[in-house]
Amino acid sequence: MREGLNVCIIGSGYVGLVTGACLAELGHRVVCVDSDAEKIRTLKAGKTPIYEQGLQKLLKTNVRRKRLFFTSSIAEGMTHDGKNAQIVFISVGTPPLPDGSADLTAVEKVAEEIAKSLKSYTLIVEKSTVPVETGDWVERTISAYNKKKIPFDVASNPEFLREGSAVHDFLHPDRIVLGVSSTQAERLLKRLYTPLRVPLVITDLKSAEIIKHASNSFLALKISYINAVANLCEKVGADVERIAEGMGLDARIGRAFLNAGAGYGGFCFPKDLDAFYWISRKKGYDFKLLEEVRRINDAQRKLVVRKVEEELWNLQGKTVGLLGLAFKPDTDDLRLAPSLEIIAELREKGVKIQATDPVAMPKARAHLTGVKFCADAYECAAGADALILVTEWQAYKNLNFKKILKLLRHPVIVDARNLYDPGRMRRMGFRYRSIGRP
Ligand SMILES: NC(=O)c1ccc[n+]([C@@H]2O[C@H](COP(=O)([O-])OP(=O)(O)OC[C@H]3O[C@@H](n4cnc5c(N)ncnc54)[C@H](O)[C@@H]3O)[C@@H](O)[C@H]2O)c1
Repeated sequence: MREGLNVCIIGSGYVGLVTGACLAELGHRVVCVDSDAEKIRTLKAGKTPIYEQGLQKLLKTNVRRKRLFFTSSIAEGMTHDGKNAQIVFISVGTPPLPDGSADLTAVEKVAEEIAKSLKSYTLIVEKSTVPVETGDWVERTISAYNKKKIPFDVASNPEFLREGSAVHDFLHPDRIVLGVSSTQAERLLKRLYTPLRVPLVITDLKSAEIIKHASNSFLALKISYINAVANLCEKVGADVERIAEGMGLDARIGRAFLNAGAGYGGFCFPKDLDAFYWISRKKGYDFKLLEEVRRINDAQRKLVVRKVEEELWNLQGKTVGLLGLAFKPDTDDLRLAPSLEIIAELREKGVKIQATDPVAMPKARAHLTGVKFCADAYECAAGADALILVTEWQAYKNLNFKKILKLLRHPVIVDARNLYDPGRMRRMGFRYRSIGRP
């Protein structure tokens, strides 16, 4: 490869840190910046603040190779060791506001700071998921604070990695989307990603921004679609798993994201779908389909609790154990996790909660109060009136169910991810409920 580029990443969370570590692995010189001083201290001490397979190793190797650095100052990150960053990524959070729109204050703040640290031509790239036309605002903000009129471009390069397999996804993407407005920007980004040898979709900035929102919303729609089908299955005694298989083998449809259950969660789908709906309406198009996707998803959490209620009659004063808290397996991320909504719904009905998760316990302890945290599935079952499987961790696939049966006060399992075989569970003596299966 040609000489690596000098890259600065602002916002070193799930996306920024993985992007930084992977770009360093590809041969670039990367400085990761974060305003969270504690996070930077942890990284400088050689530890990763998040659980992500393969990340710790990449961090270690590239720090040793002197290709990866950390700082809490944007000015330092952009001029680290006397080298001006050629590309600056913005990968700060864009959390949801109560009205469904994305909170872009961190993006604006970072744009202002970038402008003040420009020294020579720099390409500023949106990596965060942002609504269409954010690029225009970033450009305007930088122009306003770029007193020395240093040349710059803004580009959009949305990220499609999935938590739980983020490093692998970054290094083996299906495609890379580059929204650019100049040949210089296009050349730089093509050079950055040369080693990956994957299809590039080169487009204008607005289209790139919409590709990300439209993709996540479409995946959320697939999940809600199969959940709606599961609801019909429950009415007529059909099996949603067989239906997903029958639909999914059609190459035009595909099997992925056709898993009925407690619905989607996490820091992407719920907020991106809401933000996409919000920006569409703001721009004059009422994209109502998205509202329905959300409604179906919200109803799935309630459905899980209703199934517990149908098995236990009164919930007041009962105890329910939750297997899995992370929004999906292989991550410690609890943000907008279905577990949180299920816990809130159960609590409203007077239920005592005990819960466990293979990796998300430290984050859960920090954010959840009034929950009894258990070391494993067996402690979680002990004395509970019912057990809900919320996150389909591999570790929960082959539990000792004979033991669990003895530990539970009532033999009730609500499988919100269709992880277990209904026939087997019932033969063992459980009152077993799942989603959209007889
Ligand atoms: N998590 C995912 O799977 C995923 C996937 C694709 C895209 N995205 C998008 O990427 C963006 C980041 O998501 P994330 O999951 O990495 O979030 P995150 O919360 O893990 O990371 C964001 C980081 O930005 C830092 N930050 C905030 N303000 C800052 C500032 N002014 N200066 C420097 N650092 C600042 C925070 O301290 C935090 O560490 C979001 O827009 C998200 O929608 C996320």
